[in-house]
Amino acid sequence: MNFKSLSLFSISFIALCFTVASATNFDIRNNCPHTIWAAAFPGGGRELSKGGVWNLKVSPGTTGARISGRNNCTFDKVGRGRCQTGDCGGLLQCRAYGAAPNTLAEFSLNQFNNLDISLIEGFNVPIEFSPTSGGCSRGIRCTTDIIGQCPKELKAPGGCNNPCTVYKTDQYCCNSGNCGPTDLSRFFKARCPDAYSYPKDNQTSTLICPSGTNYRVVFCP
Ligand SMILES: *[C@@H]1O[C@H](CO)[C@@H](O)[C@H](O)[C@H]1NC(C)=O
Ligand SMILES: *[C@@H]1O[C@H](CO)[C@@H](O)[C@H](O)[C@H]1NC(C)=O
Repeated sequence: MNFKSLSLFSISFIALCFTVASATNFDIRNNCPHTIWAAAFPGGGRELSKGGVWNLKVSPGTTGARISGRNNCTFDKVGRGRCQTGDCGGLLQCRAYGAAPNTLAEFSLNQFNNLDISLIEGFNVPIEFSPTSGGCSRGIRCTTDIIGQCPKELKAPGGCNNPCTVYKTDQYCCNSGNCGPTDLSRFFKARCPDAYSYPKDNQTSTLICPSGTNYRVVFCP
């Protein structure tokens, strides 16, 4: 090995160590009694039968990321098809966010990690989002039977819509940046106090963990 290839080798080795050391692990587990097609953006997707686990590694600095579940999917051999809820452009390997209604585990991996569960795109699968390492111990969850109790006007095949998706009005969507809770957002908040129920909901349920923390996302915890 001459000097040039040696230094190239050590540079790649150091780069590899750095990448491995700073990627964040997400163990995505399906505890539902039926198959869930996990969706991650960025990250792709994976079919998880009951008890299945997908270990997803996410790069440091990733922001605006979402993990969610899809129900009742059919895909062909090249991963094209459709899901009843949470469909992401008909692809097994998502390249965009999924369609509402879907329960969202959201996160940004900055100097600190910000995590939340959001019902702003409605609800399709019960979710738990928990740190598994590092100096952060509390987890957040949304596990109530929101589909079974869904108000009539919000019912969707396989899920429960958020009122913004149905009515698209400023009152529910807060496009003007200034709005309060509604009877319909309170329906979600009462059942899942850990989760965002409308766009200006307060941040009491956002978890902030040190970088280097790893996480678990469980469907039907
Ligand atoms: C799948 O679709 C069927 C028929 O619409 C429905 O009865 C069933 O509840 C769905 N399963 C899930 C997990 O949403
Ligand atoms: C956050 O919102 C919930 C209900 O939406 C309320 O009970 C709680 O007091 C609020 N907390 C703060 C700090 O505003």
